[in-house]
Amino acid sequence: MSITFNTESKIFYLDGKNITYAFFINEYGYAEHLYFGKQIGHDDIRSMRSSGAGSFIATIPGIDLNTKGIKSYQHFPSELSFFGTGDYREPAVMLTHSNGDRLVELLYDSYEILSEKPAIGGIPSMRGGETLVVHLKDKINGFACDLYYTVYDDCSVLARRAVYKNFTDNTVMLDRAYSFSFSLPRNDYDVISLYGAWAKERHVERAPMRHGVTSIDSKRTTSSATLNPFMAIVDNTTTEEFGNAYGISLIYSSSYVLKAEGTSGGRTLVTGGINDFDFRWKLCKGEMFETPEVILAYSCDGLGGMSRELHDAMRNYLINPRYVGKSRPIVINNWEATYFNFDNDKLKAIAKAVEGTGIDTFVLDDGWFGKRDSDKSGLGDWFVNEGKLQGGLKEIISYVNSLGMKFGLWFEPEMVSEDSELFRAHPDYAIGTSDRPRCYGRNQYMLDLTREDVRDHIVDAVNKVLRENNIQYVKWDYNRNVTESYSLGRESDRQAEFSHRYALGVYDLCERIVNSNPDIFFEGCSGGGARFDPAMLYYFPQIWTSDDTDAEERTFIQYGTSLAYPLSTMSCHVSIVPNHQTGRITSIETRADIAHLGATGYELDTSDYSDEDKEATCKQVEEYKQIETLILNGDLYRTEDPHTSNFFGFMVVSKDKSEAILTAYRRMGSVNNEVKYFKVSGLDESKTYSVTGYDATFKGSTLMNVGLPAAFKKGDFMTLRYLFKEVL
Ligand code: DGJ
Repeated sequence: MSITFNTESKIFYLDGKNITYAFFINEYGYAEHLYFGKQIGHDDIRSMRSSGAGSFIATIPGIDLNTKGIKSYQHFPSELSFFGTGDYREPAVMLTHSNGDRLVELLYDSYEILSEKPAIGGIPSMRGGETLVVHLKDKINGFACDLYYTVYDDCSVLARRAVYKNFTDNTVMLDRAYSFSFSLPRNDYDVISLYGAWAKERHVERAPMRHGVTSIDSKRTTSSATLNPFMAIVDNTTTEEFGNAYGISLIYSSSYVLKAEGTSGGRTLVTGGINDFDFRWKLCKGEMFETPEVILAYSCDGLGGMSRELHDAMRNYLINPRYVGKSRPIVINNWEATYFNFDNDKLKAIAKAVEGTGIDTFVLDDGWFGKRDSDKSGLGDWFVNEGKLQGGLKEIISYVNSLGMKFGLWFEPEMVSEDSELFRAHPDYAIGTSDRPRCYGRNQYMLDLTREDVRDHIVDAVNKVLRENNIQYVKWDYNRNVTESYSLGRESDRQAEFSHRYALGVYDLCERIVNSNPDIFFEGCSGGGARFDPAMLYYFPQIWTSDDTDAEERTFIQYGTSLAYPLSTMSCHVSIVPNHQTGRITSIETRADIAHLGATGYELDTSDYSDEDKEATCKQVEEYKQIETLILNGDLYRTEDPHTSNFFGFMVVSKDKSEAILTAYRRMGSVNNEVKYFKVSGLDESKTYSVTGYDATFKGSTLMNVGLPAAFKKGDFMTLRYLFKEVL
């Protein structure tokens, strides 16, 4: 990894694992993008610049008409695009000065290279070493912007962000404050996004882009299940295994936007960050505004390569270090078994049934607190519902502990029910205006996390429960999105700061609850996986992937999620059949094989477990433990795409290629079929492997070129698992 600056050509070269990112300070002081892709030499590539077509070109302000060469901002591939001086592409920054003037022209001032990557105030970001900071400045009014760049030795990604600084003499209103922009050399890429809804999270959509803006966003004050803050830009010929793939992953949990703009000049400008559709930030004289970070990944090995780079980046540099590579709890969760309808006896029976199976944590889900017998009441009242749980939490916790298991508890800290003691005492804590009724979402309101006093209240209430009880796991849920964006605690000219301030509030809450309880394992959740984003992963190393626990549906959800996120971040449970969401019946083996492709757990009514069920669970947990290290640290190869075939295949290979697992799945069974070979990927060609089900050993080259003939049992929704072990 290196960051170099050639003082003669003024080119910055950032070299990470197999990648180079290059830009230079051009003749007008503009930070002009040159290249991002496979590693290249440090040649003077300025001579390869070309402007492409354009229309009604505006020259750079103040330059001599007779100047030769490219002389419009519109024509420079951009590191940070700005508004009002002839660049008609998407600006990364827009602002209004106190006199109404909206112009800003951010040109090079200086640079520095920091030995350690600084954290962002109040927003999770990647850890890292050497970091380039390029200082840009408006020479007329003093407004400034710092661009941060970090590269890595062991993953092909770049971390980027911008910090805006008001060095003018007046207050400035920031109307748009994106995190980055950069350019790609063509405008005929495919854009891939992860769209969805409740129980249908992160499905893959691929569509061609051309001229104009292709954009994805959230306007929900959360990253949302609707569109994940991730975009891939790929050649239209790129496949899972071959071709250029750029991954853009924003480390942010509120309304965001990512844009790919195909220009008539033949390039693509990529930009994004905080969504400005409802954003206006008052930046007083001397203040700065830090934007969330974006991870930019590149691979020439197709979408699979891009995913593996993102997985390594998130696992090594984003997820809180205390969780990296660490074994996860294997839980039994009572939600689908009981919903709100439980008592001590029922919970004890569920826990007792899995004693000794290897399941190590019992998680008590929603309904243990306040007056919470349905989703209509109780949120915010974080004290035990003694009507349901005689003896309080202590009784059930000590029972669970006596079985040799840890205890986990559900919270939804950001919410309040209208029918709750908290709301009756502090109606103003809920988000909303004073003169309008609020929308309900899942029958509940949201707490105004932009207010410090509200956050203090939540932190005290949740930490009290955690302090007073032997709790080792928390499931942090979040079941609706913001409406009536308004804070009673803020001035009128700061109301459009709400959405970003909500994110800052969530991160503050997490710092003060998650980070002040380092011995408790926290899992994220959002009515399924509706807040599955890189920023939440910093606090929650795994997130409940979806309320849709049906194995067939999960092949799509886990496939899509894996485009951007490592397997270890996906919480996946073996659940009840007929499945509560789809009504489908799949075998316990299939449910386990698919759920074991993530951070696994169980969520079914074990209180009626037969001896056989218990034995099956024991065997599955044992099998999971054999592959857990692969799931936590391995390289993922998506060998079969359920979107385009009757099959799904995930192969996970250890970094040293000494072991691997292939989970193969067939949706519909039929008779007299064409032969089906499962692809084997990622092994070392020269190593020799044993393979489950075969007496012989095989070279990696043999396995990867011949494949494995599928021998599914009769029936629909069948799985096969092959373990590969190097034979020395
Ligand atoms: C939504 C989650 O996704 C479920 O797993 C469960 O925790 C419920 N909320 C509880 O209300």
